[in-house]
Amino acid sequence: MPSQPDPRPEEETVRYEVADDIAWVYFNRPDKRNCMSPRLNRRMKQVLEELEFRDDVKVLVLTGEGTAWTAGMDLLEYFRMNEDKGLGAVRQSQRESYGWFERLRWYEKPTIAMVNGWCFGGGYGPLFGCDIAIAAEEAQFGLSEINWGILPGGGASKVAQELMPFRKAMYHAMMGENLTGRQAEEQGLITEAVPAERLKDRVLEICEALKKKDGHALRATKWVMRRIVDMTYDNALEYQIRTQEALHSFGGKEARKEATKQFLDEKSYKPGLGTFDTSKLQDG
Ligand code: ACO
Repeated sequence: MPSQPDPRPEEETVRYEVADDIAWVYFNRPDKRNCMSPRLNRRMKQVLEELEFRDDVKVLVLTGEGTAWTAGMDLLEYFRMNEDKGLGAVRQSQRESYGWFERLRWYEKPTIAMVNGWCFGGGYGPLFGCDIAIAAEEAQFGLSEINWGILPGGGASKVAQELMPFRKAMYHAMMGENLTGRQAEEQGLITEAVPAERLKDRVLEICEALKKKDGHALRATKWVMRRIVDMTYDNALEYQIRTQEALHSFGGKEARKEATKQFLDEKSYKPGLGTFDTSKLQDG
């Protein structure tokens, strides 16, 4: 029988829970391999915005229900049905999806992609949007666009070109062959691959380490890392100076004073070996 539109209401296309200062956000269309429909894209943007400034969210993890992280854009609801409605509908759904990918790239909190399974095409947008990407070794990554007659758009080819060695990215885009989690790690697409049964524990370890760090310094760090990609050395240097100064408006001076006191005077930690105790700050 031909595929039908998903009857699931918009609110259910994304599920989330917050526990121990970690927001776990799930692509939640497992029977459609979590492919991204316009409804999912709208809901995801709302959920990300709802969570972004909550004091009980220090790290956000984006993962998928079932066997997929996300099977990319929804070929039925995002492509065929929108194209039937005309250019306005196409543009609107592009803006909705690119909108939340962008929100994620510049998210206030550190973000981790916990890639539990399939990750295709349009999924590379949120994959890149997350600061750290940990995948199951068994996960599969593919720019499958070429297999159904389009080019990897929606940022996907840029993500491959930016993260992977050029020869590997070109092969990946042209051949439509999948990479395992392990190969994705070797080619720079993700941070690390681990056996599926270790995936959640590894992500939790990273979350716990991030939670201990100063949140303002983390935000400034991740934004600088992204912003300087296409700057000259001198511009990047200047930008880092200005960002560090701007950080002082958000507790940066106090954090630095406290951290240096703990190292130089109290000798309670070594910055080379760990993080200072941020619980001693008013605004940690
Ligand atoms: N768009 C629309 N529907 C999809 C998508 C998608 N991207 N991916 C899966 N589905 C649907 C299937 O049509 C099927 O729906 P139905 O039960 O209503 O017929 C359901 O999800 C389950 O899919 P299966 O193919 O049966 O699942 P299986 O586990 O065997 O295979 C796989 C998983 C490999 C992910 C396969 O579904 C697939 O190839 N999906 C398309 C991947 C892809 O190329 N995505 C587009 C990338 S390009 C871009 O994002 C712009």
